[in-house]
Amino acid sequence: MVRLQKFMADCGVASRRNAEKIILERRVKVNGEVVTEMGVKVDEEYDVVEVDGREIKPQTKKIYIMLNKPEGFVTTVSDDKGRPTVMELVSDIEQRIYPVGRLDYDTEGLLIMTNDGDLTFKISHPKHNISKTYVAEVTGNITMETLINLRRGVEIDGFKTSPAEVEVVGATQLGTKLEITIHEGHNRQVRKMFESQGCIVKKLKRIKEAGLQLGHLPIGKWRKLSESEVNMLKKIGTEPKKKFVPRYKKRK
Ligand code: URA
Repeated sequence: MVRLQKFMADCGVASRRNAEKIILERRVKVNGEVVTEMGVKVDEEYDVVEVDGREIKPQTKKIYIMLNKPEGFVTTVSDDKGRPTVMELVSDIEQRIYPVGRLDYDTEGLLIMTNDGDLTFKISHPKHNISKTYVAEVTGNITMETLINLRRGVEIDGFKTSPAEVEVVGATQLGTKLEITIHEGHNRQVRKMFESQGCIVKKLKRIKEAGLQLGHLPIGKWRKLSESEVNMLKKIGTEPKKKFVPRYKKRK
């Protein structure tokens, strides 16, 4: 429950002091009744507050963050199996935010979170072909043919993946280290792409998404996106699409 003046201020109607004046002018109704006293409290969820005959609603401040998700967390708000969720890692944020898209329980790396539903819809919509780059540590034989297959598209779950960029970037104790950029977001896509080539992904980390870079953000930590990063995300879908041409094909 909050005081009516605060509620009105949260709705962007006026400052708390000016809200008091508006109340005294008999312009405010709560659940259809004109209110003139100052002590009245309202329930933000259930009470209907009108000013000059128009219902008012709180404006929630939009917040945009990136989290470096560790392995062992699910990217849902709650989990029916009782596993830790990414919400526990952002509990110091006042607003209710939620993950944009998903990362597997056993994948780490860049996860965008926000309370901006329009932006979430944009980033998640398949028509925007948002690019996502992962570092994968993989066992199995990575041959030139494997790379070409992955770049051209491989069959997983009965469909062919769209062209991807794939490069070997090193070797670790776990196996070959590759960087792979995909422009789709099917369930466990990267793992299944490598499986289709007889390889097993031992470790997977997302390092880029939609032009954002994870950089040196420590694991388990979050940071706010900068204004220019948010503006870049908001531009998704507003500019003519550049056709994605894999590196092995020359532009004509
Ligand atoms: N591909 C996967 O296999 N897992 C992820 O978490 C993301 C992409």
